[in-house]
Amino acid sequence: MTPLEYEYLRKLLRERSGLDLSADKQYLVESRLVPLARKAGLAGIGELVQKIKAGSEAVTVDVIEAMTTNETFFFRDKIPFDHLRQTVLPEMMQARAGRRSLRIWCAASSTGQEPYSIAMLLKEFSAQLAGWRVEIVATDLSLGVLEKARAGIFSQFEVQRGLPIQLLVKHFRQVGELWQLNADIRAMVQHRQLNLMQDFSHLGSFDVIFCRNVLIYFDHDTKIGIFNRLAKSLEADGVLALGAAESVVGITDAFKPYPERRGLYRPNPARGGRAALRMVAAAG
Ligand SMILES: C[S@@+](CC[C@H](N)C(=O)[O-])C[C@H]1O[C@@H](n2cnc3c(N)ncnc32)[C@H](O)[C@@H]1O
Repeated sequence: MTPLEYEYLRKLLRERSGLDLSADKQYLVESRLVPLARKAGLAGIGELVQKIKAGSEAVTVDVIEAMTTNETFFFRDKIPFDHLRQTVLPEMMQARAGRRSLRIWCAASSTGQEPYSIAMLLKEFSAQLAGWRVEIVATDLSLGVLEKARAGIFSQFEVQRGLPIQLLVKHFRQVGELWQLNADIRAMVQHRQLNLMQDFSHLGSFDVIFCRNVLIYFDHDTKIGIFNRLAKSLEADGVLALGAAESVVGITDAFKPYPERRGLYRPNPARGGRAALRMVAAAG
């Protein structure tokens, strides 16, 4: 890959998917795109770039997908799920007792382990949530991961990562060497393609947003833009969960840390978003 080809791909990836590659990541691009080029019967990355320049959207999408990192596992980092079970859901259920609805969004859901972890956790609250409208919306840029997520089929290795054995026994059935999630849990999650670089206001507003381990790949300004739009998609008393290595600190004041709940944030009522709109409406 020539330096010019690398620069072209860096710019394309930043604009289309938000991925911010530093100047020294040629090896990463090569390790992901050389196999892609071979599979497509092309001589190398140079030919991939030519196809993109000639307007091939299919090749562009393949390149973007090949450059995404889809690492995920059930109940990843554990703590946000403990907070959800112990604090967030009980508080939300009290606050939403009148309208009896709950909307949760996993904004970079990869192969489904994160939204399905939330679904299994919500199942524990079935009795209290009887008669409620509960939605879990799982979105990702990559169609490949969404397809796998929808099938809900996981390898032995995948179910061994983070999933307590009792939940494996309760919610999965073995299919040969693989494990398929039972239909009731799969049906709790709606999977949709969505690029966080684009408008997502059409999804409506949510009570809880998990946006974990994706913004870490984006540059500062892109993070600011996405945080500001996430704040508008979150209810005034809603909760945002970020990944263990992510934070809003030094990036935006659209959110403030949820006291004593590491990794969780609430919209800042003093600063834009639905929280401020509510205050203005109440004052008027
Ligand atoms: C490392 S995984 C994180 C999965 C899960 N949230 C977790 O924490 O385990 C990051 C996911 O973000 C997705 N992604 C990358 N860029 C995106 C974008 N611009 N919009 C939506 N999803 C994106 C990738 O396809 C990938 O599945």
